[in-house]
Amino acid sequence: MKFSSTTPITIPFVFFFFFFFFFKGSLAANVTYDRRSLIIDGQRKLLISASIHYPRSVPGMWPGLVKTAKEGGIDVIESYVFWNGHELSPGKYYFGGRYDLVKFVKIVQQAGMYMILRIGPFVAAEWNYGGVPVWLHYVPGTTFRTNSEPFKYHMQKFMTVIVNLMKQEKLFASQGGPIILAQVENEYGDIERVYGEGGKPYAMWAASMAVSQNIGVPWIMCQQYDAPDPVINTCNSFYCDQFQPNSPNKPKIWTENWPGWFKTFGARDPHRPPEDIAFAVARFFQKGGSVQNYYMYHGGTNFGRTSGGPFITTSYDYEAPIDEYGLPRLPKWGHLKELHRAIKLCEHALLNGEPTNLSLGPSLEADVYTDSSGACAAFLANTDDKNDKTVEFRNVSYQLPAWSVSILPDCKNVVFNTAKVGSHTSKVEMVPENLQPSMASLDQGLERLQWQVFKENAGIWEVADFVKKGLVDHINTTKDTTDYLWYTTSLHVSEDEEFLKKGSSPVLLIESKGHALHVFVNQELQGSASGNGSHFAYNFKGPISLKAGKNDIALLSMTVGLQNAGPFYEWWGAGLTNVKIMGFNNGTLDLSSSSWSYKIGLQGEKLGIYKPDGSAAVNWTSTSEPPKNQPLTWYKAVVDSPAGDEPVGLDMLHMGKGLAWLNGEEIGRYWPRKSSVHDKCVQECDYRGKFFPDKCLTGCGKPTQRWYHVPRSWFKPSGNVLVIFEEKGGDPTKIQFSKRIFSGVCSSIAEDYPLVEHEFPSENGKGDNNVATVLLKCPKNTHISNVKFASFGTPTGTCGSYSKGDCHDPNSSSVVEKVCLGKTECAIELSEENFGKDLCPGITKKLAVEASCS
Ligand code: GAL
Repeated sequence: MKFSSTTPITIPFVFFFFFFFFFKGSLAANVTYDRRSLIIDGQRKLLISASIHYPRSVPGMWPGLVKTAKEGGIDVIESYVFWNGHELSPGKYYFGGRYDLVKFVKIVQQAGMYMILRIGPFVAAEWNYGGVPVWLHYVPGTTFRTNSEPFKYHMQKFMTVIVNLMKQEKLFASQGGPIILAQVENEYGDIERVYGEGGKPYAMWAASMAVSQNIGVPWIMCQQYDAPDPVINTCNSFYCDQFQPNSPNKPKIWTENWPGWFKTFGARDPHRPPEDIAFAVARFFQKGGSVQNYYMYHGGTNFGRTSGGPFITTSYDYEAPIDEYGLPRLPKWGHLKELHRAIKLCEHALLNGEPTNLSLGPSLEADVYTDSSGACAAFLANTDDKNDKTVEFRNVSYQLPAWSVSILPDCKNVVFNTAKVGSHTSKVEMVPENLQPSMASLDQGLERLQWQVFKENAGIWEVADFVKKGLVDHINTTKDTTDYLWYTTSLHVSEDEEFLKKGSSPVLLIESKGHALHVFVNQELQGSASGNGSHFAYNFKGPISLKAGKNDIALLSMTVGLQNAGPFYEWWGAGLTNVKIMGFNNGTLDLSSSSWSYKIGLQGEKLGIYKPDGSAAVNWTSTSEPPKNQPLTWYKAVVDSPAGDEPVGLDMLHMGKGLAWLNGEEIGRYWPRKSSVHDKCVQECDYRGKFFPDKCLTGCGKPTQRWYHVPRSWFKPSGNVLVIFEEKGGDPTKIQFSKRIFSGVCSSIAEDYPLVEHEFPSENGKGDNNVATVLLKCPKNTHISNVKFASFGTPTGTCGSYSKGDCHDPNSSSVVEKVCLGKTECAIELSEENFGKDLCPGITKKLAVEASCS
């Protein structure tokens, strides 16, 4: 039957269409797989997936993050499920706020995307205790992640709760929902052997327990080489092109491609160049992969005390394609978007064709996929990490930069080369804004900011929790209800001590299991010590002031995020193991077995003075000149929201170390700890060659984290209560909000950039006249106000630091100004009309532009 505009549409048809469109979301899909790919409702799928962890942002950000992912060419959102955020004590569950998993999955569904749910429930993820609740460690007889009955009991119970919740909300694809895959455990295969006899049986139990949950979609296990059928074993690494699943019936899935890396307080900033990420992804699809996930695509924030480690920063930005604050990171986001488009152009041939592998010379190969319809797609790779090469493929010659893949969706035209970044980029700045006294609390708003100050006691407050001979383990004592544990004792110093007469100082020696320490004697801070990302234990050695008579020693031991991975990780301890003082007349005094009084946590924490309803529990002192360099001090100020709607970071550069809250919401741990100036950093990162986290480090001598994300949704227009607990001393008057602002745009493109047929004319690439075209794009409501740099020729450098090369067209700036000034976006063609006839013959030229937007 043919429809024409005049064909009468009968009632049953109307009903059918209405039903189809309205209830489309609830039609069950059949997800299966074979060696080539996942098959959804009979259709093979090539899927690009993105990790976004729901508790690492706030619900207000979720729709925007998912949308930006979709615009970036993502089909699937992946997240772990965070057990310790959901099961707060045995059988007591929480699914509110940032932990509203159902809401998150539904947002993905509404965006028309799929979801991969990695239930774990062990997750690693640089998340406190790898996601397993601390209380489980104290259930007698429990060992995590092995054939331990209490562990398996609680794991199965939690997993069943999550599966039932998803089923109840009809979120599995088998029920019409977005979830197409679920994961049990996480990278267990890497350590299974270390667990001896408990290892393999546990892994097999986990797989069969998962399968018995009957979710109607396949289960995956990452880095689990012995994953039993029907569970699919998947790959996690910087490169997975060589990975093969453990059975010829399973598709090649890459669950973790790390497009950046995490940071630890006091360490440098790792960077993975977009060219290398694109290279790895293209190689994976070239070599038969069909699902690829970026871990992380948006890293976000370890709010409160959720970060693992120890020493993982509060920021979990990860240098991901979407930055911590939710903005696309350019050019990474844009380059990968172009890559995704190019790969999708090959989808049919890739999934339905048989590959032929051709050697094109040393380190040069082509994989050509031809399907039955005659469609042909080819990937040409140059895996040499130094030399650019020219290859002949089907009688055409192609230039292949070192360490790159060219994608030819028709086996003829290159639409993308992984090493040629054509995406425009942006300059993002943190623009400071002083804390504004709240209009709500002032008549005129002209007065100075008022601070409220409360000082903690250095040592036991109220009464000791317990007294004991010897030094206890920190984590076994606090059970992670707080970062802080006081170890206090006192000692009597006789007037005869020589050091008193000479005016010298005895030396305190402390050994520990980690993580950090502040030493107080008679209420005065004497010094601090801490471990780092590679050595958690620290030793403290320093002079202390003792007086004749009684001296109070108060040692504030701290954890900075609990161990999150590794065999038997839950048994790692923390706290002090040895305390001695050298320099007495009788030699060294060993206090390790003395009587110690202990206090868990701070008074302000216990009373919840950072929360609106706990604030009145102590007497705050009001002042417009808050004391500086004061340890153990709580500061509180009532402030206005920064103007505008840009994302906000709290600038803690001038503070020491501690915790921060806004309106009772946990911003998290701050610690502007600097990396060493003696460390090695790179100026520019060579993308060529295998990436590893220490390859391209920057930030030597700078704080690892200066700004702390405060989500916009936590602010009210006025009357916001900012509370800081400072451990060792800082200058609160220098605390500022900073707005994350796109301050400028850059773009650079070479004459030989592959001319992609762009769906969106707003991308770099082919202009109307079939020549490479640079596109500059300012954020909405802003215009190009100044062309800071323009050079057609051989410019070098990156956005913010371009410089002219030997070949430079002196008219470059005026050409760009003419086209762009005053516009929100503009396109400049690398045409003869714009830049004259062959300026420097025989050289491939490019145009690089940096402009300001205002
Ligand atoms: C993996 C792990 C992830 C994450 C990642 C590093 O081994 O599965 O959860 O920890 O390393 O960011």
